[in-house]
Amino acid sequence: MKNLSTFIPDFLARAIMIISTILFCVLPIFTANAAKVKIGILLPYTGTYAKLGTHIRDALMLRIEQNGNTLGGREVEYISVDSEMNVSKSTNRINKLIKKDKVDFLVGPVHSGIGINMTRIVTKSGTITIVPNAGANQITGKYCAPNIFRTSFTSWQLAYPMGDVMRKAGHKKVVMMYWNYTFGKQTKEAFVESFAESGEEVIDMPTPFPQAEFQSYFTKIASIQPDAVFAFYSGGGAVQFVKDYAAAGLKDSIPLYSSFLTEGTTKAQGASAEGVISILHYSRDLDNEANRRLKKTFKAKTGEEADIFAVQGYDTGSLLVQAMDAVNGDTRNKKALIQAMESSVIDSPRGPFTFSKAHNPIQTIYLRKVTNGENKIIGVAAKNVEDAAVGCHM
Ligand code: BEZ
Repeated sequence: MKNLSTFIPDFLARAIMIISTILFCVLPIFTANAAKVKIGILLPYTGTYAKLGTHIRDALMLRIEQNGNTLGGREVEYISVDSEMNVSKSTNRINKLIKKDKVDFLVGPVHSGIGINMTRIVTKSGTITIVPNAGANQITGKYCAPNIFRTSFTSWQLAYPMGDVMRKAGHKKVVMMYWNYTFGKQTKEAFVESFAESGEEVIDMPTPFPQAEFQSYFTKIASIQPDAVFAFYSGGGAVQFVKDYAAAGLKDSIPLYSSFLTEGTTKAQGASAEGVISILHYSRDLDNEANRRLKKTFKAKTGEEADIFAVQGYDTGSLLVQAMDAVNGDTRNKKALIQAMESSVIDSPRGPFTFSKAHNPIQTIYLRKVTNGENKIIGVAAKNVEDAAVGCHM
């Protein structure tokens, strides 16, 4: 203060000090909270999962639009990148969103391989991440972390209940077909664990991802004559699978079961999809207000029918809306944000749900059958299913 007081009176020097302190300390806090909230999105917009990624993104944006395009009173900016379902390129893409774009939240992916990679990166960076699809068990299991949430499912949640369903239907010998990567493999493992309880047989038939050439496998199935087939394919590959299964003449003699095979695809599959049975944490015919609202507004915005992928994107938006309201938009208060996310109840089109300790939805798994082109609920496969989160220590 001495140098300053040589030129100006003491009271003036003090006033300058106080004003500078305010400018340096308080103004950045104010501007950080006034700046746009940045959401980095890594989803597939090309290839076999293109429709899944597009529906998740559009429904996420729709939900935030319904909140005035704001989160916690702040405007929102999206930085959206096509994952191309490419695991090796995903490291650079995720790092760019975190380090260069400095996103406040990361949303993605669809593909489990990318999901595991993303989990490793954000566990180190601390970026609050919401997984709106990828089902790899590890994401909310062995690699769980306080800053990682999932609004979709685990592989286990959508495969274990099927064992019981198919055993009760009297099947003893089942062919399991799936894309040979993390989600497909974990689907098979959980299904075998629950189905083959008393000597039932599962014949393993993995196929390369994302290929959709099934003819030679169907020839084998015709010669094996199993009681049923349980298959995991989704998006474009699922459309091809269901059409080819019918064209191969298997549809009427060997019943087809799945999780995602007919989700969002029945229109493209036409009559080939009739009678396919699936288990999923949603059905378009669920009678609740959130579902009615999503179906109407999603159709108006995109011209498309809502499906589970839209639901998961929509619920990601709801989670962000609730958590950001709770902290008045202060994204630097990560501890409070995470606490708000942990205690949120999501008013989802699948029915209201809460998060487990590992940050995965606790949810009901429905049994559905394609009837007149729609996945109609024919029962409940398992109620309020909580994943065991094996290896998660949080
Ligand atoms: C996955 O890779 O986890 C996945 C992809 C599409 C549908 C369901 C799961």
